[in-house]
Amino acid sequence: MIQNIEAFWSHLEKSLFNDEFIRLTLSKPKTKGELQNIYVRLILLKNEKHLSCTFRYKTKDETRNYLFEEGVTFLRQQIPDSFLHANLFTSIQNIALEISKKGNIRFLTQPATLNKSTSLAHDKAKKRFIAPERPYLQALGITNRQGQILKEAQAKYKQIDKYIEIMDNLLTNKPLVTPIHIADMGSGKGYLTFALYDYLTHELGWNINMVGVELRPNLVDFCNNLAQKMAFEHLSFIAQDIKDYSSEKIEVLIALHACDTATDIAIAKGIQSNAQFIVCAPCCHKQVRKQMNKHNNFQSILKHGILEERQAELITDGIRALIMEYYGYSTKVFEFISSEHTGKNLMIVGTKNNYPNPDALQQVEELKQQFGIQYHYLEKLLF
Ligand SMILES: C[S@@+](CC[C@H](N)C(=O)[O-])C[C@H]1O[C@@H](n2cnc3c(N)ncnc32)[C@H](O)[C@@H]1O
Repeated sequence: MIQNIEAFWSHLEKSLFNDEFIRLTLSKPKTKGELQNIYVRLILLKNEKHLSCTFRYKTKDETRNYLFEEGVTFLRQQIPDSFLHANLFTSIQNIALEISKKGNIRFLTQPATLNKSTSLAHDKAKKRFIAPERPYLQALGITNRQGQILKEAQAKYKQIDKYIEIMDNLLTNKPLVTPIHIADMGSGKGYLTFALYDYLTHELGWNINMVGVELRPNLVDFCNNLAQKMAFEHLSFIAQDIKDYSSEKIEVLIALHACDTATDIAIAKGIQSNAQFIVCAPCCHKQVRKQMNKHNNFQSILKHGILEERQAELITDGIRALIMEYYGYSTKVFEFISSEHTGKNLMIVGTKNNYPNPDALQQVEELKQQFGIQYHYLEKLLF
């Protein structure tokens, strides 16, 4: 018995060593419980290959990533202690190990059914930050029961995945002391909130404390129920106006597509809380547009409504970035997803650097004068 089990693990190690490994599944738990199986695949984290183990529970998935050696040590402990079946797929052969309840062992091999190209396709899929099988995606109407992305939700899924890629890049490059307090202002139905919490908690294994602030109580109830169902212990939602929200600590302030001046209220909260990161994707820009004097240097072209709208966006968001710089943030403004997926695709990211830009206020003044703007709402909140 021991020899067969040992042979199985030797095949796993050899497949990893020879770059033949495709995937491994442990199934048939020895005792009835929540954990159903463990699904193991390869991923690249910071340019190093890891074994990514997805623990499939009845109602949720959890992922832990291991370097090869620790991963193999962990997996070895699972059979026969926790699971009775193991299926290894390599580019050379498939190997199955089955232990009956009486302790009899079957060790089966067959020619490979997955080849390198299958494996490569799999690798490609792995580059996604958010696995479509994550159970909350189904509850949010992004995927079906089989974990496949619904046709009508493809754009939303792409947006979520891109957002997580950006946040991963941002937060792993300047790690904060955990637990990290994150406030998501105007969290809506929680697509991005759930994805970020899940990714940071379950993929990166960080200790996260996250709150979604949302005006609409029905959405807040929906999100709180879902967080509970998913056992997302440190994720909660409150029905409140952003302007009334207060917290002792906000290290990451997020405001995605919060309407018009709600974005300014959120940025001001971030600045006042000394947030280390402020991430926003503004949506409508009415406040500045209403004030823009049409008789400025651009009047010959601003007669076109769409250009006037773009001009208002440019000035509104440009001034937001300048005010953040004045308060000691370095800023980046970029399109965070192709405009074919969503029109609301501009992102402003402020990273606290403690080097305030003293010229920024003068620059804001000049812009306002040029366009006949009396005030930007963010100034009203801060000065
Ligand atoms: C367009 S949705 C965006 C939801 C989510 N952030 C996303 O990007 O998927 C904007 C949300 O902000 C909420 N909201 C707008 N103003 C708010 C305020 N002052 N306080 C709290 N929530 C607000 C709205 O109710 C709405 O659900």
